[in-house]
Amino acid sequence: MTTDSVMRTPIVRGLPVVGNLLPMSKDPARFFVDGYREHGPVFRVRILGREHAVLAGPEAAEFMGTKEGRECLRSREFWHGLVDEYGATRTLSGEDGAGHKELRDIMRRGYSREAIADRLDEVVAITDRNIDRTWRPGATVPVLRAMQALVTDQLGELMTGASRPEYVDDVRRVTMYILNVLVTRQRPRLLLRDPRYRRAKARVAELSRLMIEDRSRPGAAARPAILLDDLLRANRENPRAMPDSDLMISVTGPYVAGLDTVANTIGAFVYAVLKHPDVHQRVRAEADQLFARPTLTERDLRGIPAIRGALMETMRLYPTAVVQMRTATRDFTFQGHRIAAGETLYIGTTVPHFLEEFYPDPYRFDIDRYEKPRAEHLQTGAYSPYGRGQHVCLGKTLADVQMLVTMARMFHRLDMRLPSPDYELATKVTPTPGPALSFTVTVDRHRAAG
Ligand code: HEM
Repeated sequence: MTTDSVMRTPIVRGLPVVGNLLPMSKDPARFFVDGYREHGPVFRVRILGREHAVLAGPEAAEFMGTKEGRECLRSREFWHGLVDEYGATRTLSGEDGAGHKELRDIMRRGYSREAIADRLDEVVAITDRNIDRTWRPGATVPVLRAMQALVTDQLGELMTGASRPEYVDDVRRVTMYILNVLVTRQRPRLLLRDPRYRRAKARVAELSRLMIEDRSRPGAAARPAILLDDLLRANRENPRAMPDSDLMISVTGPYVAGLDTVANTIGAFVYAVLKHPDVHQRVRAEADQLFARPTLTERDLRGIPAIRGALMETMRLYPTAVVQMRTATRDFTFQGHRIAAGETLYIGTTVPHFLEEFYPDPYRFDIDRYEKPRAEHLQTGAYSPYGRGQHVCLGKTLADVQMLVTMARMFHRLDMRLPSPDYELATKVTPTPGPALSFTVTVDRHRAAG
């Protein structure tokens, strides 16, 4: 990855003062692809007077997973705002090295496929109750909002053992403020004084206390909640690793990590599938077959190539984690370019998603790219919707299962249509890229009962 001769790193042209802010916030995926095309795997961008280095493409994606990558890059700076706001000492995403491994080991089981594998019928039941409440025949549904509510409901039930509908709006609001102000920092800190945020934050603190109390009462917990149980065990047995002060940030972690990402992705999935009638037909046929069975197991999800292909293609073309942000821990050289200790870096791991060399006709929604012999995503560095390296999404298998089941169920039960056949998806970038709140679909009818 490194070479001895050092090259001058090109800077992407931009406007005075704002620099590259506008194109980057309009369409971040395209911005980084254009930068890579014009300048190669290392370039610099300027945003509001500050310069950042970008490492992009397959080499950068691979670099994240190497020993050198782990040693040269850290995450801490992007998460300390959240840690401070919640009076915690640390959080999984903001730790590196041994501290990160310790926390990841504590949480691994709770975020693994084990947390969802035997509970697919529950995921279906939660999807059904959301369909029956929001996706009624004749309704025009704001897709992103509806997906955020659905995902909050699912994550509450799966990760904490109980979904409490009266807290769903608070969880959603707090998560959006956290992501906007404290993590991606696209909104000013002043917003944290907003009484709506303060109120919601107090309610989420109350919810965390309730979850912990419920779970701590012997024999009280009827439903599994591996993550919560493991966090509480660590708190009892190893309070240095999981002190009381870190419990709240840890038990609400699934929302910060999973709510926005999953809601964006399944919102984009609905758009992409409705936009392509041939794909819609295949997805529906598979979904109907899947739900012809009396009960659903993880094994059944292996036999749905069209739905899986549509999900993978959605995550390729509508990545919600376009780049990963890091700080350089020390001076290093990447692809002949010098990066200095302390620099803020964007790692453009999803840039290859849009490159012709990996994906012929890259902007075409082609759900058959993933099956052998094509398997285009298996080329080195080609596909990274869940990030790369030591912080690679801990919930990725769980998320895949959650999204496959939810989308299969919705397309099995609903006939939906876009505002018009030539409708192009309106998108947003805050807190993370995904469909805009204005994106709606109309439910024509229910095809199958819940
Ligand atoms: C479409 C769905 C999702 C996408 C695209 C996604 C993407 C990502 C990415 C890119 C990272 C790495 C961030 C970085 O390196 O800075 C990450 C980390 C993480 N994700 Fe996901 N994620 C998704 C869903 C979920 C879900 C549903 C959960 C759990 C309920 C989850 C839990 C986590 C956790 C705990 C981490 C932190 C891992 C660590 O720092 O070691 N994710 N995710």
